[in-house]
Amino acid sequence: MSVQRTLAIIKPDVVEKRQQGVVLQRILDEGFRVLAMRQARLSRQAVEGFYAVHRGKPFFDELCDFMSRGPVVLLALERENAVAHWRAVIGATNPANAEPGTIRKELGSSVGENAVHGSDSEENGARECDYFFAGVDQA
Ligand code: CMP
Repeated sequence: MSVQRTLAIIKPDVVEKRQQGVVLQRILDEGFRVLAMRQARLSRQAVEGFYAVHRGKPFFDELCDFMSRGPVVLLALERENAVAHWRAVIGATNPANAEPGTIRKELGSSVGENAVHGSDSEENGARECDYFFAGVDQA
């Protein structure tokens, strides 16, 4: 295992419910180091670029509408085994399939509105942190 980075996004559904603090506290309790954090209302273009790998899939438009409908909280996180650890903490993509105690089980409402994002590989963790936080190495 090694120290890795992962990008976490607290999605608009959580911000609308004013529950960002629940997720932030969980991030700290799980031992992540917050390298960078900011709240932003993402443009449709920024969301389409971030999720470019999903372009052409049936849910792409719905995903981009949702992620650009209100503010999100973006976090570049670092920890030993960060990618797998964060994915375990957030749970399955579809909250209906997520384990009890995971963030998506507790805060997500559907596969589209699933509360949080996590990078799916070490390579994507570094790339996604860089997408929103160029120069995060200096943190
Ligand atoms: P996320 O981990 O942010 O990465 C891609 C997102 O696409 C995923 O979370 C889901 O919110 C969304 N997604 C995946 N499958 C579907 C689907 N079948 N319908 C709607 N959204 C989906």
